Amino acid sequence: TAVKKIVVLKGDYIGPEIMTAGLAVLDAATKDTTFSYELIDAPFGGDGIDRAGDPLPQATIDMLKQADAVLLSAIGGPKWDNASRRPEQGLLEMRSSLNLFANIRPTKVTQAQIDRSPLKPEYVENTDFVIVRELTSGAYFGRPRKLEAHQAIDTMYYSEKEVTRIMHKGFKMAQKRRQHVTIVDKSNVLATSKFWRKIANEVSKSYPDVTVDYYYVDAMTMAIMSKPATFDVVIIPNLFGDILSDEAAQITGSIGQIPSMSVGESGPNLYEPIHGSAPDIAGQGIANPISMVNTVAMMLMESFDEKRIANKMTQAVDYIIENHYVTPDMGGTMTTDEVTQKMVDYIKNDESADIK
Ligand code: NAD
Ligand code: IPM
Ligand code: MN
Repeated sequence: TAVKKIVVLKGDYIGPEIMTAGLAVLDAATKDTTFSYELIDAPFGGDGIDRAGDPLPQATIDMLKQADAVLLSAIGGPKWDNASRRPEQGLLEMRSSLNLFANIRPTKVTQAQIDRSPLKPEYVENTDFVIVRELTSGAYFGRPRKLEAHQAIDTMYYSEKEVTRIMHKGFKMAQKRRQHVTIVDKSNVLATSKFWRKIANEVSKSYPDVTVDYYYVDAMTMAIMSKPATFDVVIIPNLFGDILSDEAAQITGSIGQIPSMSVGESGPNLYEPIHGSAPDIAGQGIANPISMVNTVAMMLMESFDEKRIANKMTQAVDYIIENHYVTPDMGGTMTTDEVTQKMVDYIKNDESADIK
């Protein structure tokens, strides 16, 4: 089997702290397996500005295109907020240049996590949905876009092709899950949303096995709090998906646990936690590494079909949550390194248990 090329974009502020953790758990989980990989470091984001003068250097783009998968931690932060090209600009350009139009963000509350949720147990029980966020169009990319002294403009744009392909992506995922899709938009006001809903309705006819419902995004922010367990696949435009996915993360107790995957029509997938670089806690050694461990596990599962290794990693996550070996954002007192070591030890012991 060929050596898998993984481009590692280590990120800013807490980025490198959790990337180190994720890679340590990967290393432990792949010991004594035939899976072999090469990690390729490339400058990106704030780190790209510092090391190569741009958040998305051309040399990094070239490496991305040859990769089997791209692993990213979080980028951005106050250090570069006034840069002519901010780290966030590099992230948007990377998503766009790799044509990563679908961003998959899971919200799953395991038995061990129920007590950490800010919602009452009877509300969160059995919560398991995925947000399918359109990622390369909408308000983030529409033209014109202008920031002038006395006015500013953004444009929310969607083409038929862009909406159709994200709908098919979401409906196909639903067929492999619980056969339910929720379409989110603001079609009582916005033209792009009327268009979104119309195409959703047309595409749904090709999936008679999948049930569909429709929500305005404002009502949806309430519904994911009051009945999160009723959702399966949620298909949502770019900007609304950014907002709804942070809210959904909170249902699990902390955004520091949630991975994501961005996929296109071909080429490597991009894997990244949904949260940012958390400048408020950077350098303290207390960032929650779970998001990055789950992100690496998602990559093993989806890009490399390595279910056993991925399961080992997510079992290590379950183990630390069950035993409350967690960082402060989850009500614990452990450091990033201590939590990571607990996962590594769990995997090592599990291995020796296998041999017995
Ligand atoms: P953030 O997600 O970085 O932080 C929000 C809150 O969540 C903070 O209180 C933070 O401490 C906490 N948090 C996030 N991840 C955590 C973790 N792993 N462990 C413990 N706590 C965690 O959002 P923000 O503060 O609005 O943004 C900070 C920077 O990150 C900005 O520059 C923003 O543009 C950037 N950002 C980048 C990405 C990305 O790289 N994909 C995503 C979102 C935001
Ligand atoms: C995310 C982030 C990004 C987004 C920013 C950093 C550009 O918030 O990945 O959720 O808005 O998509
Ligand atoms: Mn976001």
